[in-house]
Amino acid sequence: MSTATMHEPVMLDEVIYSLACRRGGTYVDCTVGPGGHSEAVLREIGPEGLLIALDRDDHALQLARERLTNGGRIKLLRENFKNLPLVLNNLHVSEVDGILLDLGISSLQLMSPQRGFSFTIEGPLDMRMDTTQKLTAADLVEQLSEKELTEIFQKYGEERKARRIAQRIVQERVLEPIVTTGRLARIVESIYGFSRRRIHPATQIFQALRIVVNEELKSLKKFIRDATGFLRVGGRMVVLTFHSLEDRIVKTEFNLLSGKCVCFRPAEECICPRERLVRLLTRKPVRPTEEEVHRNPRSRSAKLRSVEKL
Ligand SMILES: C[S@@+](CC[C@H](N)C(=O)[O-])C[C@H]1O[C@@H](n2cnc3c(N)ncnc32)[C@H](O)[C@@H]1O
Repeated sequence: MSTATMHEPVMLDEVIYSLACRRGGTYVDCTVGPGGHSEAVLREIGPEGLLIALDRDDHALQLARERLTNGGRIKLLRENFKNLPLVLNNLHVSEVDGILLDLGISSLQLMSPQRGFSFTIEGPLDMRMDTTQKLTAADLVEQLSEKELTEIFQKYGEERKARRIAQRIVQERVLEPIVTTGRLARIVESIYGFSRRRIHPATQIFQALRIVVNEELKSLKKFIRDATGFLRVGGRMVVLTFHSLEDRIVKTEFNLLSGKCVCFRPAEECICPRERLVRLLTRKPVRPTEEEVHRNPRSRSAKLRSVEKL
């Protein structure tokens, strides 16, 4: 198994089915990672198609380059997907047939000790997807006030014990800076003691820090609007999310773009644009099969939503 194939693409068949790739079409994979979904898209569009593939992580791009450059016409770029309009304008591409967004981190990022994403693997408390960026998770843990830490744990981790965990972090960092994944995980565990939980107690704290370090939710809403503008009529956008905060944004934006009301005010006070730009292909999110979850537990929280441009 090569390094790139250590990450199994989530809901691969469902993604390819939802994109309904056209031979010779132009597609954008906004989160190419090690290239699992892209490899299948290239197969579908054939040598006359074009795939534009972005990632903000240099290592992921390097793996994608090794895996994909012989597979067809591809442009691989180190870019944040929030810059999609700029990327497409620079390439003189005004319309595309499909756009894929597979949010979150890859198994390779998660399993790399030096990237600091995992609470089960000892490493520096880093969590940057783009390693040229300055801000790390250790900086947040060191510099934010108790109130700010509480707020981000509540808002981005939906953590019940946010205030107590923030308090303990502030007490502990005075004794010694918290610069490793293991130390932070142990601090969170000390608040939960031995209580039985379905997930590890540090899961939500690590999620909250990762979201803030990488500004994960900030540009998602704008991205969905911008990306829709580049879809040709009949073109499709497919988004895979891995937690409820992301899924809520995607669901709301797709509903708005399909002309639905999301403000829940009485009809005469509604402020939603009610303009139908897309057709919802998924009223409810598509979930991985039991067999996939069994084979690849990382897929268990995945939700797929898709739309078609009108
Ligand atoms: C779950 S992985 C993608 C895996 C890929 N679909 C595959 O099947 O091999 C998500 C990737 O998105 C990248 N990423 C996350 N946020 C990004 C952003 N705002 N702009 C560009 N890439 C981003 C991460 O660096 C990571 O490599």
